[in-house]
Amino acid sequence: LVHHRDLKRQLQEKLPPRLFTLIQEAGQLADRLDLPLYVVGGCVRDLLLGIENLDLDLVVEGDGIAFARKLAAEQLGRVKAHDRFGTAVIVLPDGLKLDVATARTEYYEYPTALPTVEQSSIKKDLYRRDFTINALAVRLNGRGFGEVLDFYGGQRDLKNQAIRVLHSLSFVEDPTRVFRAVRFETRFGFHLGKDTLALAKAAVKMALFQKLSGHRLLEELKALCSEREPKSGLKRLAELDLLRFIHPKLSWTPRLEKLLFAVEETLDWYRLLYLDRKLEAWLVYMMAIAAVLPDRGVTDLLKRFPFSEREATTLKALRGGAHRLLRQLSKQPPLKPSGVCRILEGAQDEALVAIMAQSPSDRVKRLVSAYLTAWRQAVPRLTGKDLQSMGIKPGPIYGTVLTQLRDAHLDGLVKTEAEERAFIEKLLRR
Ligand code: CTP
Repeated sequence: LVHHRDLKRQLQEKLPPRLFTLIQEAGQLADRLDLPLYVVGGCVRDLLLGIENLDLDLVVEGDGIAFARKLAAEQLGRVKAHDRFGTAVIVLPDGLKLDVATARTEYYEYPTALPTVEQSSIKKDLYRRDFTINALAVRLNGRGFGEVLDFYGGQRDLKNQAIRVLHSLSFVEDPTRVFRAVRFETRFGFHLGKDTLALAKAAVKMALFQKLSGHRLLEELKALCSEREPKSGLKRLAELDLLRFIHPKLSWTPRLEKLLFAVEETLDWYRLLYLDRKLEAWLVYMMAIAAVLPDRGVTDLLKRFPFSEREATTLKALRGGAHRLLRQLSKQPPLKPSGVCRILEGAQDEALVAIMAQSPSDRVKRLVSAYLTAWRQAVPRLTGKDLQSMGIKPGPIYGTVLTQLRDAHLDGLVKTEAEERAFIEKLLRR
């Protein structure tokens, strides 16, 4: 990594042509309006790291919303403005999104604040941000297009792989930044700078985290547990004594470490199997955390954090029940496939992955895996229509017959269509 003064070439090479043209045209519009325009934040950081990031954040030294409206009109897009923050999102006809903000001094929304976003210079705007590596900007105007603005040593810290705050009150102003710092450490393999580490530790001692809303803390946890390897992030939270803000009884133990390792492995397996399916991996980690808490743990988590209904249901599936489920699955004599299906039916994939990771027995793992990959998709040949053509009068009996037929099919008792018919006839005679 070298220090850049100009990123024009990188922008041209790394951004899809469509986006590159878009920021060029945005720069030209800004020139005509005589407004300084920049791309800032994570996208610049990732560009310098050679990581793809198509979330462009633009900052205008001037009225960001007015600028966004004009740019959207030019590009035939729509605008959603947030007057109170002086920000807007442009949505282009092809679905592409672009964030536009007014350069400002304050990061925070105060409860009483009226729309009083004060315009300020880009330098001040960057100063209110979390870390030096996120406080880089690239100019988009005219001949300056591509010029890097690095007031706070962001490029040096990228090179040194250091996460550093810009000033000593950063964590006090926003305690979630300690969690963000751990997230960036985890993602990039970076480390907190010495002073920043000391400030983070001071923040932990100051009891700032109890005051964080469940919403904000959950957002951070989700983000951390959505990184590629959250285990090291969670371990780092433990080192910084932050786990107790997730739950007072949560601590780093060999059991938790082993479980997180198993979750990682199981998730890898699941992803290999279902490249196309979307799984909320963070929720599986949340379940692993819940699993090492005392009995009331899940209830506490559900009280502290605003989980969605689906998330809560998935978490509750494990409440006191994980052990019961695991016990049922490891019954002797071994369950038949239909028995396994009855136990696992309706469980979200996240819960199934969590159960697999938690199970110490290979046999149980194999059962859940067979359920996921084969049994739950299994259907017999005959359907309700066939029952009708067999002259059976439609009614609740259909449900019973079809369920039993499916079970027989799962357990290999009926293979051909003729066998299925014979099975149904025998069933009805009974
Ligand atoms: N930011 C901040 N303090 C926070 C959250 C965000 O200062 N608590 C600033 C950071 O400078 C960040 C920018 O707002 O660059 C945008 O935030 P976000 O989109 O969350 O971060 P990115 O850096 O884009 O990170 P990611 O790659 O995870 O999206």
